[in-house]
Amino acid sequence: MGFSVVRGDITTFRADAIVNAANTSLLGGGGVDGAIHRAAGPELLAECRALHGCETGQAKITAGYRLPANYVIHTPGPVWQGGNSGEEALLASCYRSCLRLAEENGCRTVAFPSISTGVYRFPLDRAAAIAVREITGFLKTSAAVREVTMVCFDGVTEAAYQAALAKAE
Ligand code: APR
Repeated sequence: MGFSVVRGDITTFRADAIVNAANTSLLGGGGVDGAIHRAAGPELLAECRALHGCETGQAKITAGYRLPANYVIHTPGPVWQGGNSGEEALLASCYRSCLRLAEENGCRTVAFPSISTGVYRFPLDRAAAIAVREITGFLKTSAAVREVTMVCFDGVTEAAYQAALAKAE
């Protein structure tokens, strides 16, 4: 129960909802966004087109189609610009927006990738501290959402989130 950190591929992870580190167009891209769209199939893009984009820090939900997950929650993270453009607050907002949508849709389990720490170059340790703070804080009062997993694609990312979690405990 609660929050855990694992190494893996989020496109094969079994959860009620998986989160996609998207861009504001919601029309797919590289990284985890590309992997999720490839695994979900073309119906995901068709549904995303009808959403007409999403603001950075906000989130929108779709079905999961061919993914094991029932839902995909799409959130555009902030591009790192040095830290003086509200990036930390926007990243925190990504986590809160996704968790709120998961709660509203009755999800019991949710899986996140490491939002913004790839192409968007958000410093990993700072992103991990924000994610751990927002997720553990949310779980204290959530009713539907009972388990959140950070699915890390590589060892360096996994170590950073493990360290952030250990520091918070
Ligand atoms: N499962 C889990 N995590 C993954 C996977 C996967 N299959 N593939 C990549 N990742 C990880 C990356 O290794 C990184 O740790 O997701 C994290 C986020 O990296 P990006 O996918 O580059 O996302 P982000 O930094 O938020 O940049 C978003 O990239 O792909 C485009 O359309 C996307 O424009 C948007 C931007």
